[in-house]
Order: sequence, then structure tokens, then C-alpha cells
Amino acid sequence: MKNTMTVGKEELLKVAQRTQDEITKRIAADKFLSSQRPLFHLASPAGWINDPNGLSFYKAPSATPECHIFYQYHPFSTKWGPMHWGHSTTKDFIVWKQEPVALAPDTPADCAGCFSGTAVDVDGKQVIAYTGVSKKNSSAKENIAVQNQCIAIGDGKVYKKLSCNPVITAKDIPFEYEQEHFRDPKIWYKNGTYYLAAVLKTKDGSGALVLFSSVNLEKWTYISTLDASKNKLGKMWECPDLFMLEGKRVIFISLQGIEADKEHHFHNGNNSSYLTGTIDESTHTFKRDVRPETGKDAALLDYGIDFYAPETTLAPDGRQIMIGWMHNWDALSTPENYLWTGQMTIPRELFFKGSWLYQRPVKEIESYRTNHVAGKDIVLGSSKQTFPGVSGRHADMTMHIKMTDANTNSAKLCIRFAEDDVHEVSLTFDATENTLTFDRTLCGYARDVVCTRTMYIAPDKQNEITVRCLLDTCSLEVFVDDGKYAFTNVFYTPLNAEGISFEADTKCTIDYDFWQIHV
Ligand code: FRU
Repeated sequence: MKNTMTVGKEELLKVAQRTQDEITKRIAADKFLSSQRPLFHLASPAGWINDPNGLSFYKAPSATPECHIFYQYHPFSTKWGPMHWGHSTTKDFIVWKQEPVALAPDTPADCAGCFSGTAVDVDGKQVIAYTGVSKKNSSAKENIAVQNQCIAIGDGKVYKKLSCNPVITAKDIPFEYEQEHFRDPKIWYKNGTYYLAAVLKTKDGSGALVLFSSVNLEKWTYISTLDASKNKLGKMWECPDLFMLEGKRVIFISLQGIEADKEHHFHNGNNSSYLTGTIDESTHTFKRDVRPETGKDAALLDYGIDFYAPETTLAPDGRQIMIGWMHNWDALSTPENYLWTGQMTIPRELFFKGSWLYQRPVKEIESYRTNHVAGKDIVLGSSKQTFPGVSGRHADMTMHIKMTDANTNSAKLCIRFAEDDVHEVSLTFDATENTLTFDRTLCGYARDVVCTRTMYIAPDKQNEITVRCLLDTCSLEVFVDDGKYAFTNVFYTPLNAEGISFEADTKCTIDYDFWQIHV
């Protein structure tokens, strides 16, 4: 695999494109390599991807609006490297079309990487805001990375960077911060003005969200610090998103360096969270709501091992759609025989019930359902059961589970997926502890050390939950009680392990609807 840095700068985009084309062809021509790919999730075409970037609808002149997604991309290896932006489009959130590589780190402003950002359609121009990483020498250290904000403008296919990049640098910020950590701009446009919110690390060593405005994309003015961690909500903040949903102002931030706690149900490491609140129009500062359920202001977006850096977009039909990176910096694992690493979650529709943000897979997935089988009032006991037609690695299954004998010391239902004689990944509902546990210990991949996660749930009804599972080759996304909790995990179990079985340690009754997904 080549390293991009050995190639002439002007060639970087072409070389990335050639590499993407070669690897994509190799995968398509090989049955085994193709079978490793997910069927209905966007995955890296070649090499590595992380965060979704620029998820947005864009209407090219004389075309219908289409949903675009870009991503942090290193096509040259299955590991993170100098960041490019890969690009895909979709008409229905399920089938993705591969587009040409959009950005390469080929200018002085972004020579060490084109980091995360967002996009907005303004009068037929697709405006991209991203972080350009460059290097500078300082008196203390040599060659330190500096992060600044940059702009590129495109037509849905080809993107041109502004020659005055970077457009926002330390000169535009009226206080000191750590210049290695200033990134992930969220851009939007309102009444003739562009706004941009980005995250940076303040001198107290923790994250803050800063706001700028511009009328021409070239000259930006600092407006305010919207919000700051002050060392209470993680270390560096990453990938902010700001939007209105059902009259509520919502902010997403991905948090680095979190210590697990029982109050937020955060886990150690990186967590993606949301806040609701109000923006004071005179000071341009965000005042967080306190959540009645926890007495805290931040809540977790997804409880699984493999979820980070989500972005949202407003679809033309009014749905707020979220996509996250279905992977995590703290649990990176790709088997050696894969030519790609990283995929995105199913796009999810967001909605509130009270102060709680719910997420549901986009309704478009339902058109790809086939081979329906169902069961009602099935009583499970302690011997393992399977059901005809319920197996495979591409499925959409909803179960209503009632622990009918929950007054015992233990009341658990274990559902095993991707199962054969030696392998399994399992999902266990424990009605006495009110937990759901994902466990991929037996997935057959020796380097998978962070392999189990337990989440606490407050079920709508005691001892009863509804669980929807989306299974796609090497991922299991779980939605509890209509999307009140999302629990996203990947696993690299051998592909011929296709069993799905049920086993309870006490009496329990389930209803299920199961569909294979066919794309
Ligand atoms: C989040 C992140 C971003 C950064 C990008 C680099 O996962 O660390 O903050 O822009 O990844 O690839």
C-alpha cells in the first residue's frame, strides 16, 4: 500500500481515485471479499473510513435534490492516515452510489489532512466547511499540527478549495487555545449570512464550542463561545451538530476522555452525546436544559461499542436524519483479510418523546424486507429454541419480550446471532437487573479485546421490552422500545455462522416478526 505523502501534491486526488477504483474492482471480482461487505449499510469502498461528513441534501442545477454523504477517508490502507474526503450519494438512504473522491490533503492549508466537517446547499452551490491540518514549528516543539477551518465549493461531483484557505485561524479568535485542537466545523446559512460552529480545546484542557459568521465565506468574525466543558463534560469535544427538532434546540457533541459513570451511563473513552437548551440571542450562549430523568444535562446517543461522531440533516420531507460512524477509536478491529475498515450506521429518524431523543431506522428499509415469518405468544423455557425461517446475516427482526416469571433470582433471555458450533454473538435481556448486554467474545476474532457492553434500560413496562434488531453481515443495531435506546455493535464472525437462537433461564413469552433484507 502506498503512502500518499510520497506522491506529488497535485496528484494526490488522482492517486486516491485510482486506488479506490482498483480496490473496488478487486472486491467486486472476488466472491469471498464481496461477501464480507454489508448489504444495506454504507461501508468504506477501499481502505479506511471514519466520521460521516457533510451529510446533506443538495440540488444540483436542473436536477432533483439528492442526499450526499462524505467521510473521513484513507483509501491507501485499512488504518487511519492522512485524511481525504470520500463521497457517496443515495436516493433512499439504503442503496449508496459511489462518487469520486472529493478532497485530498493537497494544499498548504490542509497538507496534513482534510479533517471532519459539514456541507450546505446555497443557491445550487454545495459549500463544504472542513478542518485543514497543517504543520508549524513553535519555540517549544517542532512540526506541531495546527488545525484551522477551510472552505471548498462544489457541484455535487467536483470540489474546489478557496485559494484564501484557511479562512478561520487563531488570528480570528480573541483568546488563547490549543491550536492542535480546533476542528469539525458545522456550517449553515440564514438570511444571507453563513454561520459556523467549531470545537476547540481551551487553555483549561477541555472542549468548547465557538461560533463565527461570514457574508462571503472568506472573512469570518468570531461571535461567541456557545458552550464549554470546563472539564466537566469530557476533554476535547468533537464533531458538533446544531439543529432544531420539534421546537427544541439540540446540540450533538462527541466527547473524548470520558470516565464511565452511573448517572449518565457513559462508558470509558469516547461517547457521543446530545444536549437540549436555548440560545440567548443577546449573548449568543447556549443554556443547557437539565433532564428530568437524570438531573444531568447531557445524555448518551447510543449505548453500543461502535458508535461515534454522528451528523444529521433535514430531509425535504421534514425528517431529521442522523448517521453515525459504526466503529469507535477505542475498539478498533479489522481482520487481516479485509480490504476495508469502517461503515456507517443505518440512517435514523430522530424524534422526541418528552425530553428523550428517540431514533428509529429510516422507513425506507421496510421496502427491502422479504420472507416474512412471525410467531405469537411463544413460550420459551431453558432449552435453546430456533424458529423456521429465522436465520441468516441480513435481517430486520422485532420482538416483544415478556418475562412472565420475573420474580425469580434471575430472569434472562439470551438471543444468539451469527451462531455455529463454535461462534456466536449474543444479546441478553436481564429483567431483574434491567440491562441489555451485547457480547461478541465468541465471534472468532482474537484481536477483539473490547468485546462486551452492558446498558441499563428503564423499560416502558416492567419486565417487558420491545427490541428491534437490524443485522447486516457484521453489525447488529438494536433499538429498544421504539428507539428509546439504541445499541450499536459490529462483529467479524465467519460469514457462514448464520444461526439465530433463543434461550431463557425462566419462563418468558415472545412475539416476533422477522424479515430477511434483500437489496
Ligand atoms: C472524530 C475525529 C474528528 C477529526 C477526525 C479525524 O472521530 O477525531 O475530530 O476531525 O476524527 O479523522
